[in-house]
Amino acid sequence: MKLPEIHILDEKDKRLRLKSKDVSFPLSKEDKKNIKDMLEYLKMSQIEEYREKYNLRAGMGLSYIQMGIPKRIFVVVDEDEEQETFENYVLINPKIVSNSEELIYVGEGEGCLSINREVEGIVPRYARITVEAYDINGNPFTIRVREELSIAFQHEMDHLNGILFIDHIDPKNPYKNANQMREI
Ligand code: NI
Repeated sequence: MKLPEIHILDEKDKRLRLKSKDVSFPLSKEDKKNIKDMLEYLKMSQIEEYREKYNLRAGMGLSYIQMGIPKRIFVVVDEDEEQETFENYVLINPKIVSNSEELIYVGEGEGCLSINREVEGIVPRYARITVEAYDINGNPFTIRVREELSIAFQHEMDHLNGILFIDHIDPKNPYKNANQMREI
């Protein structure tokens, strides 16, 4: 596999703070190509052989704005380690329509391909969310996700609104309210 040419913006780039705009259909050929490349890039980043070969950081999700394009599109690639398969998710114009009351957080902290440093602290996320979105052909669908996938979706939806995970962390109290949430 050849690594797709994707340039991911670093947190210092102000474009990451833009609020992305809704996309209209049909998607252009370029958009379809970008989405394919993003999925491929994430998958390769999750395979050790390619991670080493191309000096990549493992990533589960990527938003369009991380390539500097303010469109409401994100992708997530979820590896099933037992099955050794990868599940691809493409969400266009996504909206959270409901969420659990229960909050969770990643114990080791969240990561982001645009944030190239260690960040201490935890981010509260809904344990379960239901999202309405459109697929690459413009067909609406509803998806309910939980646990790690729910966190990944919320992290990416934040990107579409110009929000980074570090914004949710109080540097003076990076583990605030941890006892009121479940660690995953
Ligand atoms: Ni991110």
